[in-house]
Amino acid sequence: MAKTKDYSITKKLTRMNMLVSGAALLMACLSFVIYDLFTFREAIARNLSIQARVAGSNSVTALVFSDPHSAENTLSALKAAPNVISAGIYSLNGQLFASYRRDAQAQLPPTISPDKAGSRVFEDSDVIVTDPIVFQGKPTGIVYIRSDLQMLYIQLRRYASIAACVLAVSLWTALMLSSMFGRSITDPIVHLADVAFIVSRDKNYTVFNGMLGQIEVRDAALQSAQNQLEQRVDERTFQLAAANEELESFSYSVSHDLRAPLRTIDGFSHALLEDCADRLDDTGRTHLNRIRAATQRMGLLIDDLLNLSRLSRTEMHTQSVDISALASAIANGLQEGLPRRGVELRIRNGLRTLGDPGLLRVVLENLLGNAWKFTSTHESALIEFGAAVSNGKAAFFVRDDGAGFDPAYADRLFGAFQRLHSMTEFAGTGIGLATVQRIVRRHGGEIWAESAVGRGATFYFTLGEPVFEGALP
Ligand SMILES: Nc1ncnc2c1ncn2[C@@H]1O[C@H](COP(=O)(O)OP(=O)(O)O)[C@@H](O)[C@H]1O
Ligand SMILES: [Mg+2]
Repeated sequence: MAKTKDYSITKKLTRMNMLVSGAALLMACLSFVIYDLFTFREAIARNLSIQARVAGSNSVTALVFSDPHSAENTLSALKAAPNVISAGIYSLNGQLFASYRRDAQAQLPPTISPDKAGSRVFEDSDVIVTDPIVFQGKPTGIVYIRSDLQMLYIQLRRYASIAACVLAVSLWTALMLSSMFGRSITDPIVHLADVAFIVSRDKNYTVFNGMLGQIEVRDAALQSAQNQLEQRVDERTFQLAAANEELESFSYSVSHDLRAPLRTIDGFSHALLEDCADRLDDTGRTHLNRIRAATQRMGLLIDDLLNLSRLSRTEMHTQSVDISALASAIANGLQEGLPRRGVELRIRNGLRTLGDPGLLRVVLENLLGNAWKFTSTHESALIEFGAAVSNGKAAFFVRDDGAGFDPAYADRLFGAFQRLHSMTEFAGTGIGLATVQRIVRRHGGEIWAESAVGRGATFYFTLGEPVFEGALP
C-alpha cells in the first residue's frame, strides 16, 4: 500500500518537474529559433540585393551597346549561387533584355513595371529582388533576381534537431535530479499519509493521544505559570498601594506636624521684634527678620508639600472641559495682577478635553505662572497656549520667550524641590512642576519640556485619550 502511494506521489512530483522545465525550455528554444530565422531571412534578402547590384553594374556596357548576349553571359555567373531560380536584365521601359534560368523547369522572369525597381518581396516561399541599373547617375535598366529559401529551411531543420537534443538532455537531467531529491520530500509526506491511513482505517488514535497528552501537560504548566504570575502581580500591587498610602499619610502628617513648631518660631520672633525692639540693636533685628523670612518660606514649602500629597487623595471628576477658556481666565488673572508688564498673551480658542476641571486649573496655573515668572526680567514677552504635534503626539503646550533653561536638565524639573534658577533670580519652591506632572499622569498623560538658555521654554502635555475634542491642531 505504502509502496504504491510512495510511487504515485514521487511520480506526480517528477511529472510536475518535467512539465515545468520542459515548458520553460520549449519556450526559450522557440523564441530563440524564431528570432534567428527572422534575422537569417533578412540576411538572405540582403545578399540577394548585393548580387543584383553586382549583376546590374556588370551589365551596364551590354545595355548601353544593346548586347543581350554579353548580358546573358554576365547573368550566367549566377550559376554559382544554386538558390537563384531565375534572373533578368530589363531595359528602362520594362522589356526583358537578357535572362537566366537555373534549369528548364524554372519560369522565365516576368514582365515588370519600371517603377518597381528597388524592391524586395517575399512571395510563394521565394524572395524577389529588383534593383535599378544606374550609369553615370542616370537609370539605364533594371535587374531582377528570384531566389528560393532552401537555405532557410535547412537552417530550420538544423535548429529543430538541436532543440530536440537540448530538450532531451535537459529533461533527462531533470528526471535524474527529481528522482535523487524527490524522496527527501516525499518520504515525510508518505509517512504522514500512512499514519493518517492507519488512524482512519483502524480508528486507532494512540498516535494523537500522545500528542494531545503533551499539549495538555504544556497547557497545564502554562496555566499554572499564568496563575502564579497573576497572584504575584496582585500581591505586588497590594504592597505597592499600601506603601504608597503609608508614604502619603506619613508626608501629610510630617508636613502637618511641622507647621505647629514653625508657627511658634515665627510667632515668638514676631513677639520679640514687637516687645523687645528697644533692647535689640540693628544686627539683632536683622537676624530676627531673617529668621522670620526663613520660617515663612518653610511654611510655603510645607503648604506646597501638603497640596502635593493631597493631590493623590482627591477623587477625580472627569468631564468635558473648555481648556482654552480655562487658560484665558488664568492668563487674564495674571495680566490684571501686573497690568504694567508688556506681555502679549496668545491663547488658542476652542480647545476642549476630558479631565477634572479643578486639577486642570492647577496645571495651567503652574505652567502659565512659570511662563509669567520666567519672562519677568524681559521688557516685553510673549506667552502662548495652544495645541501642536510634538514627539509624534498631539499635545497641549504653554510657551514663553523668557529665561529658558539648559535642556540637559529637562527631566529633572519634574521632581519635587528641583529648581534650575536661584531664589535671588526667580522666587519659588520647586514643587509646581512636580504637582503638574502628578496631575497629568493621573489623567493618563505625559509632560515634557523643550528649552534653551535665554530662549524661552515650551511645556507640552497630553491628557490620555482623547486628547482633543472638537478642534485638532
Ligand atoms: N517657563 C520656564 N522657563 C524657564 N525655566 C522654567 C520654566 N518653568 C519651570 N522652569 C524651571 O523649572 C524649575 C521648577 O519649576 P517649578 O516646579 O514650577 O518651581 P518654581 O516655579 O517654584 O521654581 C524652576 O525653578 C525653573 O528653574
Ligand atoms: Mg512654579
